[in-house]
Amino acid sequence: MESASSARRGAAFTSEDAVDGEAAAVRPAPGSAGAERGAEASETGPNPRARLMFSMAMWMLLIVAPIQAVLGDLHGGNTHEHQPAKVAAMEGHFPTERGAPAILFGLPDAAAGETRMQVAIPNLASLYLTHDWNGEVRGLNDIPRDQWPTNIPLVFWSFRVMVGLGLLMITLGVAGGVMRWRGRLDSTPWLLRAAIAMGPAGLVAVTAGWIVTEAGRQPFTIYGMLRTADSASPVALPAVATSLAAFVVVYFVVFGAGIWYLFKLFQQTPRPQEGAPPQGQPIRTAGITPISSSKPGAAPELQPAE
Ligand code: HEM
Repeated sequence: MESASSARRGAAFTSEDAVDGEAAAVRPAPGSAGAERGAEASETGPNPRARLMFSMAMWMLLIVAPIQAVLGDLHGGNTHEHQPAKVAAMEGHFPTERGAPAILFGLPDAAAGETRMQVAIPNLASLYLTHDWNGEVRGLNDIPRDQWPTNIPLVFWSFRVMVGLGLLMITLGVAGGVMRWRGRLDSTPWLLRAAIAMGPAGLVAVTAGWIVTEAGRQPFTIYGMLRTADSASPVALPAVATSLAAFVVVYFVVFGAGIWYLFKLFQQTPRPQEGAPPQGQPIRTAGITPISSSKPGAAPELQPAE
């Protein structure tokens, strides 16, 4: 199992504590942690908790990742209608075209007004943006330059990172479904390694999506109405600097303590031969003592700390 251990060492996001907090955003992380612990325990025996955690995360991925892609498509149609310059930058479209291609990769060059070295699929962008094979997609060259996003390559590449990770998530979810169907969900090393590698994917995709949205709407804070340059409040520099410094200090302390605690938890080696989750009781999550649901009035059974 040397290779599984190596994969585990390479994983950046490896604790079920990730289930808390930003869980929705980083959904594959529990799968990553479950995969890691499952791989570790298989050296000496099964780890039912890791299997359950991995199984739940893979169900989630199978169901939610395709929904995310459908919602993303609907979101894109809406943005195409209301913020055409953002979509043109996301797509790398400079000329307005009927039957516009989906540019998979390329080098958007704002100065030259074109995307160079394109790898593209003909007509596909028209299909998913207008739901018509020959629908018209407005390009940046038809929009006044002072309304173009200020950093077109950033918007273009962030969009590809987000969608690329979304597609990888769908692939992983489907692969998990197939392996579950074959009865090998938690005994397929490449699947466990892929789940570990995808641990940070949710967080990265969310960040990329946010960059697409925010960099894409520049140079406006209210699209088409209020420019970013006109939005700056007339606040004196020392006042801004003081509140910024206060934010930096508070966040540094709060997040610093949280990250220090998380890394402390990461250091705990998974134990082989851990028992199955308790039957007839709510499963204990970090720091919460379970209420005994099996015997009313009885003292709660103590669970060993994780
Ligand atoms: C799989 C295919 C995906 C497609 C087609 C897609 C499409 C889109 C589109 C069109 C936008 C709108 C940009 C805008 O108008 O401002 C967007 C934003 C966003 N996406 Fe995706 N996306 C996909 C996957 C993902 C995934 C997997 C995640 C995260 C796990 C994600 C997270 C986000 C976020 C956080 C935003 C910003 C929302 C906002 O701030 O308003 N997307 N996406």
